[in-house]
Amino acid sequence: MLNVHSPLDMHVHLRQGDMLNLVAPYTARDFAAAVVMPNLTPPVTSLAQVLDYRQAILRAVGESFTPLMTLFFRAYSRAELLEARPHIIGVKLYPAGMTTNSEDGPADMDEARATLAIMEELGIPLLVHGEGCGFVMDREALFLPVVEDWARSFPRLRIVLEHVTTRAGVELLDRFDNLFATITLHHLLITLDDVLGGLMRPHLFCKPVAKRPEDRDALRRAALNHPKAFFGSDTAPHPLEAKEASGCAAGIFSAPVALPALAGLFEELGALDRLQAFVSDRACAAYGLTPIPRQVRLERRAWIVPERIGCVTPYLAGQTLAWQVAG
Ligand code: NCD
Ligand code: ZN
Repeated sequence: MLNVHSPLDMHVHLRQGDMLNLVAPYTARDFAAAVVMPNLTPPVTSLAQVLDYRQAILRAVGESFTPLMTLFFRAYSRAELLEARPHIIGVKLYPAGMTTNSEDGPADMDEARATLAIMEELGIPLLVHGEGCGFVMDREALFLPVVEDWARSFPRLRIVLEHVTTRAGVELLDRFDNLFATITLHHLLITLDDVLGGLMRPHLFCKPVAKRPEDRDALRRAALNHPKAFFGSDTAPHPLEAKEASGCAAGIFSAPVALPALAGLFEELGALDRLQAFVSDRACAAYGLTPIPRQVRLERRAWIVPERIGCVTPYLAGQTLAWQVAG
C-alpha cells in the first residue's frame, strides 16, 4: 500500500468532444490536478477559450479534479495576459510544425521575446516544447541554445522544458535557477530501440522521439533525484486509425497506467519513497502551488492493462502491472 498526496500530472492532452469525455476521467481518477495542453483545433489562444475548455473538462470529469489551464503561445499584449493570469498556470510554446496541432506556433524564436518579457514581468511561467528544426534525434539538442538564451535573458521567467528526453537537457537544469523540466513515464521506460529496433511500434511513437539508453538513464536519475524535475505524462491519445496508419500520429495514451507504472518503476529502482516528490512536491515547489488535499492510494495488486479503451490503445496494453489505484 502506498499513499500519494496531491498527485499531479504536469502535462496532459485531454482533447475535445467525445475524446475528452473518453480520456479525461482517467487523469481525474488518479490525479488531483493536471496541466492541460492547449493544442486543440483551433488552439486555445484567448481567455474565453480557456474558460470554455475548463468548463468542458469539468463536465467530463466532475469537480474533484482541478484542471490547470494553459494558453497556446502567440504574441499576446500585456492587457491580455494580465486578464488571463488568474485563470492559467502558464503559456505553452510550440515551435511551428514540431508536433500535433503546432502549426500556429512561432517559426522564429526571436519573435517570441516581446511576449516572454511580458510573461516575466507578470510572473507567468513558460512551458516549452523544446525541439528545433533538424534531424529528428537531434531536435531537442538543437533547441537547447534557445532555452539557454531565454533562461539567461529573462532570469525571473520560470521556464519548463516539457518532456525532456536527453541527458544534455537534464544537465541544463543545473545551469539556470529558473529552468525546470517535466519527464514522461514512457521516456523513463523506452528508448528508440523499443520503437523501431524490432517490429515498428506505432503506439510507442511520440514527439520528442525516445532517445538513447544513456539519455533514459539520465532521465531516471533526474526523476529520482533532481529537485527541479517532475512528472508530466504527456498522455496524448489518438484514435486507433490515426496510430495504425501509413502516416502515424505522434502521441502515447498513458493516463490509465501512469501512476501504477511509475510506482512499479520506482519500486524496481528501490526508490518508492521518492515517488511523492516526483509526482507532486517538486511541481508544487516549481510553480508555487499549494498541494490539493486529495490522497490517492496505490495497492500492490496485479492487473492487465486493457488492449483498447474506446477507440484508443493505451500505453502498456496487454501488459501486467504490479500496482493499481485503489477503489
Ligand atoms: C502530442 C499530441 O498528440 O498532442 N504528441 C506527442 O507525441 N507528444 C503533442 C506533444 O506534446 O508533442
Ligand atoms: Zn504534449
